[in-house]
Amino acid sequence: MKRVITYGTFDLLHYGHINLLRRAKQLGDYLIVVVSSDEFNWNEKHKKCYFTYEQRKALVEAVRYVDLVIPETSWDQKRSDMHEYHIDTFVMGDDWIGKFDFLEDEGVEVVYLPRTPEISSSQIKEDLNMQNK
Ligand code: CTP
Repeated sequence: MKRVITYGTFDLLHYGHINLLRRAKQLGDYLIVVVSSDEFNWNEKHKKCYFTYEQRKALVEAVRYVDLVIPETSWDQKRSDMHEYHIDTFVMGDDWIGKFDFLEDEGVEVVYLPRTPEISSSQIKEDLNMQNK
């Protein structure tokens, strides 16, 4: 069984996320999604989420391509996750191109998939904010 992993915030789940998750699952048989915790988002990514970790986790779990959702709490956990979860392929959108090539040292294939154009959680927040003005 080929095991695939991907990481992200997945706030205000949108079709760009779904496209990414569908293509990630196609690269293997079992897809693990590591969703960033509220503390990690705020302290490390300087992002405030609309939905809490538990809400984002429940939404991602409801996607048919996803087999398991676990929390992301630090930048360093990627290396150990590759071994703990017996990962074959690490996937991210191409906004992260080159950033995680070091995981090849852990024996995994690193794949960057093209982002879906013109949609992001930040864009949605910005657009909705503008509508209220
Ligand atoms: N993603 C994608 N296409 C988009 C938006 C996101 O393929 N249009 C991918 C990202 O590349 C990443 C995953 O979805 O691999 C989770 O991304 P995340 O940062 O949670 O989503 P964004 O919508 O980019 O959020 P933000 O605007 O807060 O950065």
